[in-house]
Amino acid sequence: MEDRLVSRKTVLHAALAAGVAVPIALVGVPALARTNAANGTVPELTPMCDDGDDPTPPQTEGPYFKPNSPSRTNIVPAGAGGVRLSVTGYVFGLSCLPLANVLMDFWQADANGAYDNSGYRFRGHQFTNAQGAFTLTTLFPGLYPGRTRHIHVKVQAPGRPVLTTQLYFPNEPRNNTDPIFDSRLLMTVRDSGGAKQASFDFVLNVPQNPPTSTTPPTTTTAPGGTWAVGTAYAVGARVTYGGRGYVCLQGHVAQVGWEPPNTPALWRAA
Ligand SMILES: [Fe+2]
Repeated sequence: MEDRLVSRKTVLHAALAAGVAVPIALVGVPALARTNAANGTVPELTPMCDDGDDPTPPQTEGPYFKPNSPSRTNIVPAGAGGVRLSVTGYVFGLSCLPLANVLMDFWQADANGAYDNSGYRFRGHQFTNAQGAFTLTTLFPGLYPGRTRHIHVKVQAPGRPVLTTQLYFPNEPRNNTDPIFDSRLLMTVRDSGGAKQASFDFVLNVPQNPPTSTTPPTTTTAPGGTWAVGTAYAVGARVTYGGRGYVCLQGHVAQVGWEPPNTPALWRAA
């Protein structure tokens, strides 16, 4: 890592001294992981990034993450003002194969820098499609004291731990002073007719043995209960797991890794 930083700095310095054009990958806009997928090189893992507001006990109001977000790709509330922003991208595993059915839970401040801690404005979860792609429709998030501009997200592949991280915007003055800012989490952003289009690819620590590894196992080591892998659950369905009861919040087919205690977007303790 250190070697890489040194060589990057050295290259930058040499390029600037020579007055030649600096490759875009060296000026703070990371290459998208899909580039690695195309040329077969091993991608860098998406780092975690946590601002200390998280995790939050569900019953506590105030800090910012809330479980049980609605299932939706558009998290803009009716009537909300601001600059339209779309975020699209892919989720890859360690072999740069796309990961389907990855749970992505987004939340952010509104255009004025305020979080909705009593409801679910600017909050929503979705799953990557068969191509490992996601699309978030939102507004350009506002600034609030102490932080640079960002979008929060929790990303979880079936059967894997949750990655809690944040996405950042290039050319933000506060990127230089925010102590938890991480340039590896910069999106590529372009303006498009008054709106903004951002892209980011996640790389999760998910082993892949091509071409079969994206198929989850069909058995589970669940510690007892009525919850079962492969079962289609509808909203309101009730199960037990690990001695507790849960009610289904979002229709889905159960998979390993989506056990009720691990997926607050899908199950609420009842
Ligand atoms: Fe935040």
